[in-house]
Amino acid sequence: MKTPLPPHDHGNPLVTYFPFGPPIGYAELPKELVNDLNKGCDDITKDEELLKSEDFSHSLVGQVKQELKIPIDVINKWGKWFGTQVQRYVAGYYNELYIPEQNFMIIPKEQALQNINKLQVDVISAWYVQSFDGDYNPIHTHPDSELTCVGFLKVPDLSKERKKRHANLNCNHVATAGALEILSHGGVITPQLYTNDGIGFVPKVGNWYLFPANLRHTAYPFKGIGERRSFSMNLNTKMFFQDSPDVDHLPEERGLLR
Ligand SMILES: [Fe+2]
Repeated sequence: MKTPLPPHDHGNPLVTYFPFGPPIGYAELPKELVNDLNKGCDDITKDEELLKSEDFSHSLVGQVKQELKIPIDVINKWGKWFGTQVQRYVAGYYNELYIPEQNFMIIPKEQALQNINKLQVDVISAWYVQSFDGDYNPIHTHPDSELTCVGFLKVPDLSKERKKRHANLNCNHVATAGALEILSHGGVITPQLYTNDGIGFVPKVGNWYLFPANLRHTAYPFKGIGERRSFSMNLNTKMFFQDSPDVDHLPEERGLLR
């Protein structure tokens, strides 16, 4: 005779979903892409004329030494790579919305994922941020685009400053020297349970983070010798706009709940 299953093995095992968002995408940049981006920046920095024509600082809020446009040939060479990452990001978000036995979305999941595979991704703007001792980027958003990103191309040795800060605070949660911090809308009432209102990302060459452009974010200053070099791009997919060809798979009323 078959032994009955213990009560904790009945039914389907629990799966956790994160339908509220906002998601943070992470990828490691290919080494060749890091090299191409760094070369593009170095070539502009060496040329007085290009330094003037490719200056992008008038459009940005950073209190940093230099902000330059990324050369178009680098964008063209790597456009497909970035487009694929954005499609994965959007698919990752949509996957969280299909909770079994519920019907938040108008079209089936398979159809939504097929549409995402064909999604066009447009680069709206792309620039480098070169910062040195004491530079910082105040809290800001990128209001004219859907998604933005930060990738690290050069990172100074921040270990001493980080150790000092840890010794003072005995805590690794807060953003430390030279860190990128992304802020959310949740968890501002303490204690924060199952939600976070700010997460610090320690810079490391090759790390790339993709997130909604309406999320507030900031870069903390650091002390010492060396350059912290990052790049950002503003990206649009038209995924959530009424003129999108994929409008039929929008969540109802642009919200998730019926
Ligand atoms: Fe930014």
